[in-house]
Order: sequence, then structure tokens, then C-alpha cells
Amino acid sequence: METLKIGVLASGRGSNFQAIIDSIETGYVRAQINLLITDNPDAYSLERAKKHGIESLVMLPKNYSSRDDYFREISSELKKRGVELVVLAGFMRIVGRPLLEAYPNRVMNIHPALLPSFPGLHGQKQANDYGVKISGCTVHFVDEGMDTGPVIIQAAVPVLDDDTEETLSERILGFEHKIFPEAVKLFSEGRIELRGRKVRISGSAFDGSPLINPPLSG
Ligand code: GRF
Repeated sequence: METLKIGVLASGRGSNFQAIIDSIETGYVRAQINLLITDNPDAYSLERAKKHGIESLVMLPKNYSSRDDYFREISSELKKRGVELVVLAGFMRIVGRPLLEAYPNRVMNIHPALLPSFPGLHGQKQANDYGVKISGCTVHFVDEGMDTGPVIIQAAVPVLDDDTEETLSERILGFEHKIFPEAVKLFSEGRIELRGRKVRISGSAFDGSPLINPPLSG
């Protein structure tokens, strides 16, 4: 099997980027990260890339004539390095059409809520304020909408009575770091099949256990 070539787009601290780096370095995922692109010169992700010998580029939207031009240039940098899968790890922009056309069903994002609930910014705060008992995180393929693309994998995470946005975010983040590398692994093994907007995972051994919060009392 060929080693999957990945490009990562990140705007900030990059803990999901790190989780994917770790999953590759431990051999759990057979892939290589060929390029990190950030829109933020202060992103901690840049330090992570440096530490792990990953090439990085800072690309600022203001240096391009239009949003399309910006994403065309991003696509061209990724293509130049043979990238096959694009991973958005805390990339705080809606992806422009040129990138989606260059990588159809090959751009993945992680969102800190159970989509289609609580899309957009601050998914954890939205869930906590709403009062849901279960939230979670979602890895999905990216389309032109805001967190609307086909769902690849989700983790359900309980919301506790005394949660704040911070405590819930922390609990969810622990699961983001599990499911994002998992989605990349599934992709690298050719186990993701898209039928319309439904994703099927071949060879999955899920036992169907539900999560109930609070647990049944009897
Ligand atoms: C994560 O909560 C992710 O779900 C959201 O942005 C945050 C990025 O965190 N899309 P990090 O930069 O990966 O640490």
C-alpha cells in the first residue's frame, strides 16, 4: 500500500495536528504530512511542524487578490507536493471552491459538536448553553457550506451538570484527538465509501452500544 500524502491547514495551537503527527509517528496511521499551511504567523502549529521536520508555509489572505485566488494558490502548493488528502485542523476559514474542486471529497474537518447540531463557531458553548445531555465531535468531508459535508465519524461525549464551556471543550478535545487520526487512517486504508451524502466504513466492528446520560437508574 502506498503511503498517503497529507496536507494540513491550521490557524492556531494545532493539538489536532499534533494528534495526527503522533498517530503517524507511532505507526497507527500509514501516512506522511508533506506540508502545513497556516493563515496565522503566530500559530503554535508552526512550532509543531518545525519540531517534526514538516515543511510549513504562512499564507495570508490579504496578500491575494481574492478569496478564490487565495484558495487557488493553496491548492497549487498542496498539489506541488503531491498531497492527496487535505486535513483542516482548526483552520478558521470557510474553504473556497478552488480547493474543493482540486480535492473533491478529499478535504476533512473536525468540528467540536455532534453535527448537524451546533455548527459554526463555539460549538461547545452552544451545546452547553442549550442544555443538551450529550454532545461530542464530528469528522466530516468539507463542502461549500458551514460544517455541512458528509459525516465520517462522530464521538458522543456527555455534558455534565457543572460543565463550563472550558470543561466541556477539554472533554470533547480528548475525543477529537482520537477520531481525527482514526478518520485519516480509514481514508488511508481506502475504507471510506461515499454514497450520496452517506459515508460507509468497510470492515467496522462497532457493537452498537448506545450512550445514555444520565444512565438508567433502575
Ligand atoms: C478544535 O476544537 C476543533 O474542533 C475546531 O478548532 C479547534 C482546534 O483546536 N475546529 P486545535 O488547534 O487542533 O488544538
